[in-house]
Amino acid sequence: MHLLQAIDLSHAFDYPLYKGVSLECKRGESIAILGVSGSGKSTILNHLSTLLPPQNGVINLLEWQDIYSLSSSELLALRRLKVGIIFQSHYLFRGFRAIENLQIASFLAKQELDFDLLRKLGIDHVLRQQVGELSGGQQQRLSIARILCKKPQMIFADEPTGNLDKQTAHQVMKIILDFLEQNGSGLVLATHDEQVASSCTKVFMLENQTLRQIK
Ligand SMILES: Nc1ncnc2c1ncn2[C@@H]1O[C@H](COP(=O)(O)OP(=O)(O)O)[C@@H](O)[C@H]1O
Ligand SMILES: [Mg+2]
Repeated sequence: MHLLQAIDLSHAFDYPLYKGVSLECKRGESIAILGVSGSGKSTILNHLSTLLPPQNGVINLLEWQDIYSLSSSELLALRRLKVGIIFQSHYLFRGFRAIENLQIASFLAKQELDFDLLRKLGIDHVLRQQVGELSGGQQQRLSIARILCKKPQMIFADEPTGNLDKQTAHQVMKIILDFLEQNGSGLVLATHDEQVASSCTKVFMLENQTLRQIK
């Protein structure tokens, strides 16, 4: 069964970004999108993750056909309960403690906190600290923990390891990929790190306004 089907997407801002973009993600699968800065990776992730309708094309996500034909309240419920979005800018609540950020997310998604996951991400000892006191890498891992605590069926991640050193990036990717396997969820991520991309089931390259599968 497909968790995600994107069919023939195209989009332009001031100039055409891409056309004919199609991809499919099944349960347990991870998909990487590689491409130089400015090629449109984040924009594609925004389309796929309910945030930005493409100018053309259709997206089927989980049990919803053509997500941009849903009402805005249906789209909001889909985003809040079923989808996990990991962004470069973390959107953590900065005036709050790390643990409070996790509690808000798990409350909204009606899920229990998973302390084993926090230990694996190496942030179990910083939970009482304010977000602003954490390092960039700790904040990035906290934002990943916050999303995985929702137990999303489909995860979208924009440069999820961008602020991490190579070894931590590798560990974090392993945690995300283990999560997919254990929960039968799917992942689409944007990255310019070829090593991160190669750990995914499928790899696409966004180049010359076209998305081409290279693995
Ligand atoms: N909301 C927007 N309005 C106008 N132009 C945008 C907007 N978002 C992105 N762009 C432009 O679209 C291009 C692709 O951006 P982006 O999807 O962020 O690429 P990437 O993630 O591959 O670096 C860039 O030239 C960027 O400036
Ligand atoms: Mg980007």
